[in-house]
Parts: sequence; C-alpha cells; structure tokens
Amino acid sequence: MMLQRIPLSLGILSLAVLTACSEPGNDAAGAQDRSAEAPAAGEVPATPRREFRIPPEGFEAVPERGAELFATHCATCHGDGALGSDQGPPLIHRIYEPSHHSDLAFYRAVALGVHQHHWEFGDMPPVAGVSGEDAAHIIAWIRREQRAAGIE
Ligand code: HEC
Repeated sequence: MMLQRIPLSLGILSLAVLTACSEPGNDAAGAQDRSAEAPAAGEVPATPRREFRIPPEGFEAVPERGAELFATHCATCHGDGALGSDQGPPLIHRIYEPSHHSDLAFYRAVALGVHQHHWEFGDMPPVAGVSGEDAAHIIAWIRREQRAAGIE
C-alpha cells in the first residue's frame, strides 16, 4: 500500500493564508503615521513569488550552506552575521525568536516580502533567486546563531 504525503500543498496553503506577525500587542504604536515622507531607501517593486515552495518535512537543512546564502542574498540589508545594517534590522534579535517569528515567517518574507511594521527601514521586497530549500538552509543558520546568542 502506498502512503500519500502532501507536505508541499500544505506549505503553499499556509503561505497564502497566514499573515505575518499579526499577534496583538505588536502594534503598540497602533496608529502609525503614514504622512508622505521621503520614500525609504531600498524600496523596490514587490512581486510575490508564486513559484516558491517550502521544502517537505524531513528536508535536511545545512547551517553552513545557509550562512553562504545569507551572505549573498540577505546581508546587504540584514548585515554581516545578521546583525543589522542601515538598510535593515538584525535577525539575531529577540523579536525574531522562533516563538514570535516562526520559520513560516521567514519563508513568507523571502517569497512575499514584508511590509514595514517593526522598524523604520521600509518594506522588504521578495527575494528572487532563493528557493524554498535555500531558505531552509538560511533559517537553520539563523536559528543556530540565535541559540548561540541565547535567543530561543
Ligand atoms: C532590500 C533589503 C532586504 C533584503 C535584501 C532582505 N531583507 Fe529581510 N527585511 C528587510 C526589512 C527592512 C525588514 C523589516 C520590516 C519591518 O518589520 O519593519 C525585513 C524583515 C525580515 C524578516 C521579518 C519578517 C516578519 O514577519 O516580520 C525576516 C524573517 C527577513 N527579513 C528575512 C530575510 C531573509 C532570509 C533575506 C534573504 C533571503 C532577507 N530578509 C533579505 C529588508 C531586507
């Protein structure tokens, strides 16, 4: 008898349904001022990546590979070692601990981009050229760095 497994469609569904970071209490600043100031540096037209697929459960992510991919695709904004830059926030930060930003939030960020909500750096555009597997490697590395910094 054959076992049917459908982790991929599940992943796509969750990507479509969940909204990032919608827990109440995040928006203490509530009514954010939308007055038209100069557009944030790094604003890029955002095209959601419909071809993006979260890898199936059991995919073996390699933190070392993630470190390289991060340096290539994310460090411009999130800084060396994910410690932040003048273009984007640090990801080795309590805000991004697993209980507040699950792995799904990371997949979402890569595939769909992120609207500015925690910081003042502007929006994060979807990141082209990073597959679901690549993102899994990156997440494995970030989680390792977070643990090393006492963020779990
Ligand atoms: C062009 C700049 C830029 C690039 C490149 C970039 N980011 Fe971001 N990212 C941002 C900014 C700015 C935010 C903060 C948005 C906010 O909360 O105000 C952010 C937020 C995030 C978040 C938090 C998402 C959430 O739900 O709040 C994650 C996770 C993330 N980025 C991961 C990545 C990863 C992984 C890469 C590389 C594959 C990457 N980013 C590349 C600018 C960037």
